[in-house]
Amino acid sequence: MKNIVIIATGGTIAGSGKIGKATDYHAGKIDIKEIIDSIPTINEVANLKAIQLFNVDSNEMDEKHWLCLTKKINELANCDDVDGIVVTHGTDTLDETAYFLNLTVHTYKPIVLTGAMRPASATSADGPMNLYQAVCLASSDEALGHGVMALFSSTIYSGRDIQKVSNFKIDAFDQKDFGCLGYMYDDKVLMFSRTFKKHTLQSIFSKDLSEELPAVGIVYYYAGAKVELLKMMADEHQGIVIIGSGSGNYSRVWLQEIERLTNQGIVFVRASRVNQGIVYKSDVFDPHNVCIPSNTLSGQKARVLLMLALSKTRDINEIRRIFDEY
Ligand code: SIN
Repeated sequence: MKNIVIIATGGTIAGSGKIGKATDYHAGKIDIKEIIDSIPTINEVANLKAIQLFNVDSNEMDEKHWLCLTKKINELANCDDVDGIVVTHGTDTLDETAYFLNLTVHTYKPIVLTGAMRPASATSADGPMNLYQAVCLASSDEALGHGVMALFSSTIYSGRDIQKVSNFKIDAFDQKDFGCLGYMYDDKVLMFSRTFKKHTLQSIFSKDLSEELPAVGIVYYYAGAKVELLKMMADEHQGIVIIGSGSGNYSRVWLQEIERLTNQGIVFVRASRVNQGIVYKSDVFDPHNVCIPSNTLSGQKARVLLMLALSKTRDINEIRRIFDEY
C-alpha cells in the first residue's frame, strides 16, 4: 500500500452544526482524525498519516497560510516514505490555494485538495466520500505529473482551472470550458486530459519561493465605477488586478488612470467578471499595452500569479510572458 499524508486545514468538511442539518454550522471545528475514523474502508486504500496544520474557515486563509502549506508539502514530498498528499480545505477559497500550490510545490508526487459542501454533522455529508476518493487519487500512479489537483463529487480538476460555481449544491466546482481532468469511478482513477500550462517542477516559483509576497489588490469594475477606487488601491499595493466587464473592459477614465498609475510603477492585469472565455490583448481597452491580460485566469487566480511574478521581476514584458506560460 502507498503512504499518504492528509494535511487538514479546516473548512466545511470539518464543519459542525445541528445534527442532520446542512446549513447554519461553523467550518473548521472537527479534528481530521475524527473524520478519517468515520470513513469505513479508507485505511484499506493506503497507510495514512494525518496532520492538523490549521483548522479554519477558508476565508481566514491568507498568503502566510499558503506559504506555510507549501513549505509543509515540500518537506513531506521530499521524504521517500511519502507517496502522495491530500489537503482538506474549505471550498470558498480552495481555487486560490490550489493555484498557489500548483505554482509553488516542487514535486511530481500527487497533491490532491478536497473539501465538502455539507458539514460533517449533516445528513448525507459529502466530505467522507470526497476524502476517500482524494486518498484513492493520491495513491494512484495515474495521478503522477498532473500538478496540484482537486477532487469533488467524483470529478478530478486541475489546480489551475478549478473554480467554485455553486455556493449551494454539492457538485460545486467546474473547470470553465476545459471540462475536467478525469473522473473517479468509486476507487478507480480515470484520467482523460492534462493541462498544458507550467506547474510544480517546471514552475520557476517552485524553485526559489520568496518568504514574503508583494501586495496585490483586486478592483471590480461596474457601470459608473469611480477611478478613486484605483487610486485608493494603488496607495497600498504594487500590483492591481482589474476584474473588468466583458473581455476585461472598463471606461475611458479608468484607462487614463491605469496609464497614469502605470507610469508611477503600478503593474496592472486585466481579468473579467465573466466566468467563461478569455481576456486577451486589446487595442481598444489597452492601446499602449500596459495592462497584462489574464488569459483564462479568474481575477483571484490572476492575483496569485501577479504576486508570485512580482516577487521575481517588475519587467512588464517578462510578467506578460509569465501570464502566457502559467
Ligand atoms: C470554507 O470555505 O471554509 C467554508 C465553506 C466550505 O468549506 O464550503
